[in-house]
Amino acid sequence: MVRLAIVLPMTETTAEPSIGAQATRSREALPGADEHQEQPEQSVDLFRPEGTRVLAMCNQKGGVGKTTTTINLAGALAEYGRRVLVLDGDPQGNATTGLHVASPGPRDLTQAQVVLDALDPQPLIAQTNVPNIQVLPASLDMTGLSSDLRDTGTGLTLYRVMVDKLRALGLWDDILIDQRPALELDTDAQLVASDGAIIMVDVDEWSMDGLKRQVAQHKKAMARAQRDDFEVVGLVVGRVQKPMGHFDKAVYDLLRAHPTIRCLAEIPVRAADIKESRHQGLPVCQARPRTDTAQFFREIALKGRLVKAA
Ligand SMILES: Nc1ncnc2c1ncn2[C@@H]1O[C@H](COP(=O)(O)OP(=O)(O)OP(=O)(O)O)[C@@H](O)[C@H]1O
Ligand SMILES: [Mg+2]
Repeated sequence: MVRLAIVLPMTETTAEPSIGAQATRSREALPGADEHQEQPEQSVDLFRPEGTRVLAMCNQKGGVGKTTTTINLAGALAEYGRRVLVLDGDPQGNATTGLHVASPGPRDLTQAQVVLDALDPQPLIAQTNVPNIQVLPASLDMTGLSSDLRDTGTGLTLYRVMVDKLRALGLWDDILIDQRPALELDTDAQLVASDGAIIMVDVDEWSMDGLKRQVAQHKKAMARAQRDDFEVVGLVVGRVQKPMGHFDKAVYDLLRAHPTIRCLAEIPVRAADIKESRHQGLPVCQARPRTDTAQFFREIALKGRLVKAA
């Protein structure tokens, strides 16, 4: 693992670099890449255009594609010239290893220690194979973090303390927090450290209930933190398989046209693109930029008002 005591210079922060045009060209090169892709909006107000934007990638349901989307949204944002930190908030450490960064060893400083003791997080930061993506890795000692945070009495605010230190460095345009599948104090504390959230869902009869529970949890956590500025940027339907049966189709239609939460994109099952890119320690946008899979992740960045179309 390459750890950076001092984070190396990265690309300029901009929203409309030439790579945006490249992304558009890639799209043009793939006519009919997916029937559900709509044209990107040409004129949008970006969500939180100033400073470091922090998004929690969440759903208490396991295996819906949170980590896959975190890694690949990071790739799409990086392609648009954004400087991205992937904050691996899950002790499973899949975002860490998925970007070919090693988890801290038993004698290394860990995220759990930094959060609990309000230490400087910068020594944790590791470089990935993509110049403008870094990782703040997870480690197994985070399995006890929820109860450790509870013991402090101020646990709900402690991720915010760490994230504010990261914001103050001015090194990133985006921080994406890959959450574990839980509704606990550590995930609440990560939400409270965030400006907004993207909720991953799958096509399953429990998704609507799960979505309601997730949004209710956001409201609860924000009420406790006395915040009213948190925004659910949208939902992403992951691991979509077609054709689907009538029952799944009904759920899918509800998710795509959700009455209160905007559906940003869907990610079809694309095991080869996703897993072979991961094997290279790269997001799909960097490993396979001309595939429709890369375009699905760009779609999240565009529809989520995280970047502007070139
Ligand atoms: N679009 C996709 N096509 C094919 N495989 C996928 C896709 N999305 C995710 N997967 C695979 O599904 C599994 C679960 O995905 P992932 O780990 O991203 O979900 P998660 O929500 O982060 O899970 P957890 O709740 O355990 O953190 C992984 O093996 C991943 O490679
Ligand atoms: Mg995960």
